[in-house]
Amino acid sequence: MKDEITITVTDQVGIEHTLICPLEMGLTLKDICKAYELPMEAMCGGMAICATCHCFILNNEPSLPEKNDVEDALLSELFTSKETSRLACQIYLTAQMDGLSIEIAAD
Ligand code: FES
Repeated sequence: MKDEITITVTDQVGIEHTLICPLEMGLTLKDICKAYELPMEAMCGGMAICATCHCFILNNEPSLPEKNDVEDALLSELFTSKETSRLACQIYLTAQMDGLSIEIAAD
């Protein structure tokens, strides 16, 4: 079992960042973006209220957990929401997400 995974995050100006993510700390995708000081606002701190952790999933090979109801509801209210939209604060990092590639949504 891996204890870290590598993901790629494209920021709002198109710069690609490679993030090494430890798994044992129970971090979300939002937490790791913050830890790397990427420009993800995440204003509500992960409470699924603000939607400023909105991102798009660029590759779908790594399996992600289904959206929960709160995430689904919040995303459906966004004008910029797409099929690939997720809230980074609602996704806990797991070994299955190795190789995941996301893009932070522009606000
Ligand atoms: S950080 Fe606010 S909804 Fe994700």
